[in-house]
Amino acid sequence: MSTTRPVTSDEIRETFLRFFEEQGSRRLASASLVPAQHDPSVMLTTAGMHPLKPYFLGADTPPSKRLTSCQKCFRTPDIDNVGVTARHLTFFEMLGNFSIGDYFKREAIAYAWKLTTEGFGFDPEKVFVTVFGGDEQLGLGVDQESIDFWLEVGVPRERIVELGREDNFWQAGPNGPCGPCTELYLDRGPDYGPATKPGEDESDRFMEFWNLVLMQYDQTTHEDGTSTLVPLPANSIDTGMGLNRMAMLLQGKETIFETDQFAPLIALAEELSGKTYESGDEAADRAMRILADHTRGMTFLISDGVVPSNEERGYVLRRIMRRAVVQGRRIGIEGEFLGRFLDVVVDTMGEAYPEIRQRREEIRTWVTSEEQGFGRTLAAGTQLLDTLLQQGTVSGEDAFRLHDTFGFPVELTTEIAAERGVEWTGQDEFDRLMTEQRERSKAGSRRGDHGGAAAGSIAQLVADQPTEFTGYAHLEEHTTVSGILERDGKTYLKLAESPFYAEGGGQVSDSGTIVLEDGSEAATVAGVVRAGDDQAIVVEPSAGVGDGRMSQDVAFEHGQRVVARVDRRARHATECNHTATHLLHAALRERLGDHVHQAGSSVRPDKLRFDFSHPSKLDPEDLRWVEDRVNEQILLNQRVRALTMPIDEAKALGAMALFGEKYGDVVRMVEIGDGSFSRELCGGTHVRSTAEIGVFKITGEGSSSANVRRIEAITGPVAIDLLRERDGLLDEIAVAAKVPAAQVVERIAKLREQAKGGATALPVVDEGALAAEAVTIADVPVVVARVEGVSSKDLPAVADRVKGKLGGPGVVVLAAPGDDKVAIVVAVGPEIVERGVKAGDIVKAAAGVVGGGGGGKPTMAQAGGKDPSKTDEALRVAHDAIAAALGS
Ligand code: ALA
Repeated sequence: MSTTRPVTSDEIRETFLRFFEEQGSRRLASASLVPAQHDPSVMLTTAGMHPLKPYFLGADTPPSKRLTSCQKCFRTPDIDNVGVTARHLTFFEMLGNFSIGDYFKREAIAYAWKLTTEGFGFDPEKVFVTVFGGDEQLGLGVDQESIDFWLEVGVPRERIVELGREDNFWQAGPNGPCGPCTELYLDRGPDYGPATKPGEDESDRFMEFWNLVLMQYDQTTHEDGTSTLVPLPANSIDTGMGLNRMAMLLQGKETIFETDQFAPLIALAEELSGKTYESGDEAADRAMRILADHTRGMTFLISDGVVPSNEERGYVLRRIMRRAVVQGRRIGIEGEFLGRFLDVVVDTMGEAYPEIRQRREEIRTWVTSEEQGFGRTLAAGTQLLDTLLQQGTVSGEDAFRLHDTFGFPVELTTEIAAERGVEWTGQDEFDRLMTEQRERSKAGSRRGDHGGAAAGSIAQLVADQPTEFTGYAHLEEHTTVSGILERDGKTYLKLAESPFYAEGGGQVSDSGTIVLEDGSEAATVAGVVRAGDDQAIVVEPSAGVGDGRMSQDVAFEHGQRVVARVDRRARHATECNHTATHLLHAALRERLGDHVHQAGSSVRPDKLRFDFSHPSKLDPEDLRWVEDRVNEQILLNQRVRALTMPIDEAKALGAMALFGEKYGDVVRMVEIGDGSFSRELCGGTHVRSTAEIGVFKITGEGSSSANVRRIEAITGPVAIDLLRERDGLLDEIAVAAKVPAAQVVERIAKLREQAKGGATALPVVDEGALAAEAVTIADVPVVVARVEGVSSKDLPAVADRVKGKLGGPGVVVLAAPGDDKVAIVVAVGPEIVERGVKAGDIVKAAAGVVGGGGGGKPTMAQAGGKDPSKTDEALRVAHDAIAAALGS
């Protein structure tokens, strides 16, 4: 081991990883901040063990039983603490060593001690450790083993401290792998506080720097809050050391913000604001820390494929970017500045994370457009606040609405009110409303826990006996039932070999049947659940496929011989759509640019849907070009092959990786033709040659959330059916119009002409088309659109009819700009009013932008404004207000 003590963050990272490599661990690259699809339980990666969960649960085989990594992490709950404390961060790097059923407590403790004292050069006398002191509810006693192993390496008993479940039991969530932990602390001396050992008080004297989790159990938490522990397939080790905190200790700094990764960012904040860090202005210090943390988070989130939006991760990103902008302005930074911070983050961290260097310009595009958009929002919020102030007072509810709808910080409300000489007394009410909202969102996140009890048991079922997936090559398999589980009225089945594809990578599960070998009983495959690389099949009784008998009680038994058959037609139709999705992705990048990244997809037998990052609507020429390009590749009859290879080779070949994909050492890459047009990492099933797809037709283009576009398309026989249906429709129209098909358009124009002269003009707005443009916000269909040539008198009726065509309760906002005025109408379904969207609120927010006012009922409200040039902005504000009201 090197004798020079590591100092810089890069040196600390390297020292840690190299130490564990020397102990036989495999070094893993950091996984994405966006968790892999096998773990939908959290929004962002929060610990080094996170991407490795399937290994700990035994659902997947690790590339080595000893692993080590430096993992990019993001902790959302800490957003509000950033800047207030010396060490809270949202984005940070976690160093870890992991044993998957290999070494356990003794070695983990010995390694930690050696690296701490020799590798990092800490004075052994100053290191304290804590161990798990036992917990009655969990039925566990003191972790005496760990105490013994610490004594063995030479830590005296008085520096081994027992702590309870709160401090020394680690779990990644209510369910899943967990265990007692033992932590290492550095004593920084009496200057930092009066405590004499860790856990005694809240002071910073004893600073925790390494958490060793001794993973032994798979936990299931019950509704009453108690939990059951089941031993894991093997005892494992998971450790976590925050790189930035280590840097603080080794660089002898008081806070992480003075360490090498942060100092350049603080320096930039000083330069741009003209203020000095730590010169006694606590609010300015806090603002600078927030800027440093949030711009790092922003850079890494975008480089991992997250884009600003009002949903989930996109919203976390939007929130930190907006906070950064507000804090920057508070300390007097003018103009757009996030891009400057981006450059410093890339310069500081680009060596260790080349992806941010490669994507610097792409990240800048998102950063700039969000900063500009928020600038407009802030202006609109200020305007509304001014109007309220002119009317007299601003209530806590007003401030809450400003905060919630415009992302307008309450501090700004307070400041502006004070500047205008209005006393602001709404803080208590504001705080109450914020608490209520937090409670609501907490209740929401509790629902989305870590997989639930059922998932735990399915994991157990899966772990019992692995299934070999044979469905890339076979669609029928004579095989054996290797496991059965009845749960929540469903039957889960394990087969020794399974030809059924388990839902994943956007592709739906296969459908099909499972028949006893003698043909006597049959079950339908209702779904295939993925667990790591393994699967379990959900079966339902079906009409007996063998001898035509109905079989209501399919009683499968362990060891039974069965025939598993995939529905060939559905599989092939799905494969056509999957290969077409890859062609579409490649064509979009060719046409629109490399900023296009997959943001989601759904590949089914009847259609495909592809979501991708792109800021604006595609025009008809783009769509036509893309459609032609895909069809050209189909006509070329290109071979499609799947190759397995080391990840580095696939990367060198330029393969596109779906963000969130879990990278093992060996990946599967799907290549079309010679690969120059399309290469993607993909576990799905594909046609053998592009000509099998037949034809590709785009059926819709819209937006699934801000900055994400969605294309829907169909292929093969389904596309032919659509064309035939449209042909038939045209024939019917021709018959009704009493002219040959080629003259229909001309004829209709003439009819319209005549009708205009008559009593009823044809409607100028295509209400069906507007309804079809609806985006979905928190499951609610929402139409926000401008319409031309409608009078303000007719607008409510039009909005009502569009609402009626949504196919469910929804929200419609229409703006009709005229020469010197603009009319705005908001219609909200009563069910959605119940969810907090009030037409009056939305219309008021939008009218504020165009310089007007209005009101109405919660279900329908109307307003007029004087500035039609701001119509689009008003609509954007309305959209954001709806999203905020829906808590999205
Ligand atoms: N997974 C453990 C933590 O995050 C090591 O602290």
